[in-house]
Amino acid sequence: MEKVLVTGGFGFIGSHIVEKLVHHNYEVAVYDNLSTGSINNVHSKGLAFFDSVEDEGALEKAMKTFKPDFVIHQAAQISVQNSVSNITNDARINIIGSTNIIKLSQKYGVKKIIFASSAAVYGNSKIMPIPVSHPTHPLSPYGVSKQTAEEYLKLAKELYDIDYVILRYSNVYGPRQTVSGEGGVISIFINHVMQEEQSVIYGDGLQTRDFIYVDDVASANLQALKYNGSGTFNISSSTCTSINEVFSKIQSIGKQNVSPIYQPAKDGDLKESLLCNKKSIQKLDWQPIYSLEKGLTNTYDYYLKQKDSILPSGKEPTSVLK
Ligand SMILES: NC(=O)c1ccc[n+]([C@@H]2O[C@H](COP(=O)([O-])OP(=O)(O)OC[C@H]3O[C@@H](n4cnc5c(N)ncnc54)[C@H](O)[C@@H]3O)[C@@H](O)[C@H]2O)c1
Repeated sequence: MEKVLVTGGFGFIGSHIVEKLVHHNYEVAVYDNLSTGSINNVHSKGLAFFDSVEDEGALEKAMKTFKPDFVIHQAAQISVQNSVSNITNDARINIIGSTNIIKLSQKYGVKKIIFASSAAVYGNSKIMPIPVSHPTHPLSPYGVSKQTAEEYLKLAKELYDIDYVILRYSNVYGPRQTVSGEGGVISIFINHVMQEEQSVIYGDGLQTRDFIYVDDVASANLQALKYNGSGTFNISSSTCTSINEVFSKIQSIGKQNVSPIYQPAKDGDLKESLLCNKKSIQKLDWQPIYSLEKGLTNTYDYYLKQKDSILPSGKEPTSVLK
């Protein structure tokens, strides 16, 4: 049985990856400091280590105990806004955390590291959809820390022959996403619609995003384990949907029609974000299988069941791009 250590495995995306790995008979351990994740997200009996990726000593203990064949590295500081207000914290978690993973992967014979990167590495682009070969030009410390971790992974392949697969996610949505993380615009809208409250849309709502359902992202991580060699891939639906459109789809699922409030666009909010997933479909033997309607319905049903545990409404949506 192959062993996989999932950092951030108690978080939104990580928990779906853990479930899928267990389902496919991998032996899984989770490494997560629970800063935003929750143990309730995962019902697996595997090992769990409740420490930070910044803590090299604690990470070494986990590596030594579990001896993983693969590491799927999801743990991160995920907020663009927090990366701007606390650049050092972002760098500590996202850069030092990643170099710790690389260093100890080399020491303990890990075959491959799968890394959760982001569309944020591209910054603004005139070319849409953005191919994975497009130059990177991050516009936030978060984008820089993701790009830096990518560079270290490529170097580790050169220096130590550790394979890597970098997965640049677009806007991920689905069950277990909290409204506090960015990219949580769908969970925020669902929360408002369920409570029959007004949602806030920044700008004219015509700005578009490339939404990808979390189960499709988890499948991409599994395919990355099987991929022969190293590479970088966009994980996206390659479909652009406007914020107005996503809001009205959620309203029709929730059978509610309270009009949203429009407020001025936020600084730096991109007009369009769309990633090309062609290479992933060709080389990873992966493709997104959830339509937006199906994914939104699943997500809505999940929040309906969790009604009491979601965050209070009235929270403003933050920027939807990570
Ligand atoms: N959600 C998106 O739309 C999106 C888009 C692009 C990239 N990503 C990336 O995907 C990954 C997962 O994001 P998510 O949306 O599931 O967020 P999340 O906050 O739900 O998950 C992050 C997990 O990592 C854990 N964690 C945070 N800091 C840690 C630390 N220092 N040490 C150990 N564990 C730590 C948290 O407790 C949480 O369980 C992140 O790397 C994020 O940057 C997410």
